[in-house]
Amino acid sequence: MGVFSGFFTPTLPPAFEYPLDDGLRVMLRPIRHEDAPRLQEGFRRLSQLARRRRFLDQVDPLSEEQLKAFTSNDDVNHVAWGALNLEKPEEPGIGVARYVRLADDPKAADVAIVIADEYQGRGTGFVLQACLHLSAHRAGLRSFYYDVLSDNERIIRHLKLMGAEHAGRADNIDRLRLPVYSRAWDVPDGNEIGRRFAEVFRKLRSVSPAAG
Ligand SMILES: CC(C)(COP(=O)(O)OP(=O)(O)OC[C@H]1O[C@@H](n2cnc3c(N)ncnc32)[C@H](O)[C@@H]1OP(=O)(O)O)[C@@H](O)C(=O)NCCC(=O)NCCS
Repeated sequence: MGVFSGFFTPTLPPAFEYPLDDGLRVMLRPIRHEDAPRLQEGFRRLSQLARRRRFLDQVDPLSEEQLKAFTSNDDVNHVAWGALNLEKPEEPGIGVARYVRLADDPKAADVAIVIADEYQGRGTGFVLQACLHLSAHRAGLRSFYYDVLSDNERIIRHLKLMGAEHAGRADNIDRLRLPVYSRAWDVPDGNEIGRRFAEVFRKLRSVSPAAG
């Protein structure tokens, strides 16, 4: 990879294959209407802890309205990227990252992300977030807000190392604001998490389209 590869914004194909560092081949693409049954099944398989951390206490199955909202991508105001295991296509999916633009701050969006328990800690969260940043940047967004349970220390630490600042706190929820990144060059690289995130942007410059 060239010295200046981090300077340029990757252009993502509509669907593409991405190898995780441990060799697992995953496919990344925006979520579509027909993914609703996958999302419901993925939610059913999630641990109570992951549900609580993503949905801030919801334990019931996803409602029809939620499924409709989660699968309605308009490329501008609400966008969701999903990851699938290419070696196990029968599985519902590895994870989803989603943003929704804020009505009162059009350059900002709320973000939520969840990775299936058995796939956590393998880099999928990083690459899904990078895809979300690229879509958001193209749509004119400049800030992402993450509402995270205050006991979710790992993601709070990660977000801060990626450049996030505290934007508020209510009850047991921390709100963090992260700049929307479009290239490796802009990601803080003074720590391991920032460097890993920046590296994902570099890798995304040379991905191959996949049949989505
Ligand atoms: C938070 C969450 C989204 C993170 O997703 P993830 O896929 O586990 O995250 P990643 O794998 O990209 O990164 C997590 C760890 O893997 C490490 N990692 C990432 N890429 C790696 C790589 N290529 N090689 C080795 N390790 C790697 C990271 O350094 C990090 O390590 P650390 O926790 O020891 O600091 C996931 O744990 C989750 O879904 N949690 C429940 C829901 C939730 O908390 N959502 C957040 C609030 S919206």
